[in-house]
Amino acid sequence: MKTTTSTQVTHYEVQKKRRETLLEEWRGYHKTILKRKDVVMHDDPNRRTRRGVYAGWDGDRPTKNLDATIHELPAGLETTTIHRHSWDAIMFIESGSGWTEIDGVRIDWKPWDTVHLPSWAWHRHGNTNPDKPAVFHTWSVQPMLEQFGVALLEEGGDTPVAQLPPRPKQVTALPGEDPYARRTQRLARQAAGEESARLITRFEDVRGLVTKRGARSLFMVDKSIGFHTAGLSAVMHELAPGKYQSRHRHGGEAWLYVISGTGYSMIDDVRHDWEAGDLIVVDHWAWHQHFNGSAEKTARLVRIHNFDALYDMIRILMDPLNLFEEPPVLDAPDLSDVVWPDHLDGRPEG
Ligand SMILES: [Fe+2]
Ligand SMILES: [Fe+2]
Repeated sequence: MKTTTSTQVTHYEVQKKRRETLLEEWRGYHKTILKRKDVVMHDDPNRRTRRGVYAGWDGDRPTKNLDATIHELPAGLETTTIHRHSWDAIMFIESGSGWTEIDGVRIDWKPWDTVHLPSWAWHRHGNTNPDKPAVFHTWSVQPMLEQFGVALLEEGGDTPVAQLPPRPKQVTALPGEDPYARRTQRLARQAAGEESARLITRFEDVRGLVTKRGARSLFMVDKSIGFHTAGLSAVMHELAPGKYQSRHRHGGEAWLYVISGTGYSMIDDVRHDWEAGDLIVVDHWAWHQHFNGSAEKTARLVRIHNFDALYDMIRILMDPLNLFEEPPVLDAPDLSDVVWPDHLDGRPEG
């Protein structure tokens, strides 16, 4: 084992070189529009599904914070294998009908429903339609946990859930004012309600509201509506025909998946066109604004980020630098004359 250092290069030079190559490498990975047709679907014989990677190390598109995967359950698939992991994920159903079982609780779903897969919960999926595959997307914080060395994955095969170990239990709060007791109290508080938290948003049960930014929006997964996530949040934005959202910029990764419609995003004055099936990756600290390209139809986008975890931490560490900016007066369009389509308009059949 080596126990002495003989390098003649100073620590400053080693770090400088490492920092430069890191950014060079990561800039090379960035792509603004990830197209559905470029996502290669692979058979997944281990879990009996098919999957393709929009963004993440599992494909050739490394990310640091979030990943995006598309899954296809073959027609009539009785069940995938069961597994669990230390990261949580959001599941958005694109088409088909089926179910997801989370720690033994079966949840049936239809297109545009959104499911939360909590960290450490055993889960598996099935397709109830014998003639049609079911397709869903997942967005998770797996890369963030991998970065910290705590991304753990456990495969349970076809073992019945009752025979698998339960979710790791958070410590019970201990009485007292000493540092250790305070830690147990804080952690217990954070975990409170986790096992009984909300797991699904059924699309037919929610309604959008027009926001100051200029879109009809609704929460799909967020702690404000009863989910217990590691900072993950998903919102559906519906852009009015021929309209746009107000401009802003921020750090971090915010992704937009296009469910329906066509349009374009102006990102630091460069136009990027998009259509249904595209994932828009807005680069950090770039001014951006999303436009609906159709004068007749709305465009629906799902926005995903985990600002409550990593990004809030970065904001605190970088204070007083401001990491979110919008014009003093929002340049949102006047939507008072817009006739919005029915909420369920355009939703695919189950
Ligand atoms: Fe999973
Ligand atoms: Fe944004």
